[in-house]
Amino acid sequence: MADTPRALVAGNWKMNGLRGASAELEKIIQGGSAGQVDLMVCPPATLIAGFATLAQGAALMIGAQDCHAEAAGAFTGDLSAEMLRDAGAVAVIVGHSERRMLHRETDAEVKAKALAAWRAGLTAIVCIGETKDQRVADQTLDVVQAQAQSSLPDGANAQNLVVAYEPVWAIGTGLTPTPADVAAVHGFIRGLLEGRYGVAGRSIRILYGGSVKPSNASELMQVPNVNGALVGGASLKADDFLGIARAYA
Ligand code: PGA
Repeated sequence: MADTPRALVAGNWKMNGLRGASAELEKIIQGGSAGQVDLMVCPPATLIAGFATLAQGAALMIGAQDCHAEAAGAFTGDLSAEMLRDAGAVAVIVGHSERRMLHRETDAEVKAKALAAWRAGLTAIVCIGETKDQRVADQTLDVVQAQAQSSLPDGANAQNLVVAYEPVWAIGTGLTPTPADVAAVHGFIRGLLEGRYGVAGRSIRILYGGSVKPSNASELMQVPNVNGALVGGASLKADDFLGIARAYA
């Protein structure tokens, strides 16, 4: 299909990694040059500038995790999208379930952060997904629809937006939905994107996230409308991260 987007495998390092982790990044750079897939690592903010320098000229993008909605101001401890871009990031993850739960971020705040990312010239990687209780109550599609509706800004396209479907109960647990369940949700999200953004919605990447590892990557990445993965734990080791990317070899 002409509109099928090129896959993206993005690593979300969360609050992991000291400067010594650049050795792992160099392994990823060395192993990741060939292939059918775009690669991105989103380290903690302290490592963005160093990693961006290491990745210069390599087939690896550096992204960030979370940003403030404002460009600058009296917001102690926060980082603006402009700062992340200045440090060398090309994208930022917003609306991750850990931010939604631990920092009580609302859909409206997530949307404001996505708009901040665009203002700074970054791609917004917007995360959505249901909790275990919501899945058991058969509310998955309703939750995904509500989050997509309220977290995604108008005017999205394949360059400025990546959607990550991450069932909360699959994150860091080793549990994953069945390929059929993933297909149902990703197909539903594709429909939402096409309904909202028209033709542009066909080529916006929809990543699956939640306990992706080398052993399940091929199965999950073959699911229709899965255009790559957002990888947490398994992105911290170059071998595992590259093993996941190899699902596209
Ligand atoms: P996990 O995390 O791969 O460790 O489950 C995914 C994520 O939170 O993005």
